[in-house]
Amino acid sequence: MKHKLTSINYFELELIFCHKILKLNSLHYGYWRPSDKIDINNLRKAQARYTKHLLDFIPRGTKNILDVGCGVGDNAMVLEKKGYSVTGVTPDKYQYEILKSMNNDNISLELTKFENLKTDKKFDCILMSESSHYFDMDVGLKKSKDLLVRNGYLLVANIFRKKQSKEFGETHIESEWVNCAEKYGFNIIQRRDITKNVLPTLVFGEEMYKKYLAPIGEIIDVYFKKSSPARAKIIELIFAKDIKRLFSLQNYLYEHLNSSIFEKTARYLVFLLQKS
Ligand SMILES: C[S@@+](CC[C@H](N)C(=O)[O-])C[C@H]1O[C@@H](n2cnc3c(N)ncnc32)[C@H](O)[C@@H]1O
Repeated sequence: MKHKLTSINYFELELIFCHKILKLNSLHYGYWRPSDKIDINNLRKAQARYTKHLLDFIPRGTKNILDVGCGVGDNAMVLEKKGYSVTGVTPDKYQYEILKSMNNDNISLELTKFENLKTDKKFDCILMSESSHYFDMDVGLKKSKDLLVRNGYLLVANIFRKKQSKEFGETHIESEWVNCAEKYGFNIIQRRDITKNVLPTLVFGEEMYKKYLAPIGEIIDVYFKKSSPARAKIIELIFAKDIKRLFSLQNYLYEHLNSSIFEKTARYLVFLLQKS
């Protein structure tokens, strides 16, 4: 099965890198313990621990769960094994096919954006694990309110910015998001800051970037410039737009894998909200 990239989408590239190259079964940051050595095996363990950590937030009495942005389904599959009735949503065909091939139809799957999801079902709990920033907060929170049963829960784990900033600009600002949630009648039941437990993933990612991705770029650059400077110039002219995009991807990765920029700008938070 081929994943076709119609336009450069950094998040999707990142997800494919994690799944195809690093062979990770999960697409989230994971939950590290302070003493863990930073390596790929411990990243895998941290990712499994994160799912367990999330499950601890699910209130008693919950029977059915909507997993918004279910990725390759690791949270959804654990939830299903624990006996919850699970519906997963992803707009990504690549992830949808992977999950479809693994879950023997025990998890209902919807290939659509959350904003466009059409269903008559109501849910006891909606889970957004690192997906709440993919849609407008008003749209996401209103839709969640409509899809939840009375007194139902919304469990969100994600990066939130501390205030307006260029860095991590795709994520919501915590205070704005909380105000918006309150506007739609949600009460905050729990808020936990797990920044320290996710930061080692950035350190690992930065190491991967420096060790593998950056040198590949340099090798290609040197190859073209040394083998034929004239051809290199022509290529630069023809592919000027793509080269610019690649540089902005490089900046994106630099910013998103830099743990000190992360700590200065953002927090990783888990919120449990209840619809009133
Ligand atoms: C970082 S991954 C997280 C995956 C999974 N929840 C996890 O914790 O491993 C983000 C997920 O959100 C999905 N997504 C992106 N845009 C979305 C949208 N508009 N509606 C629903 N899901 C979306 C992506 O395809 C991906 O599955």
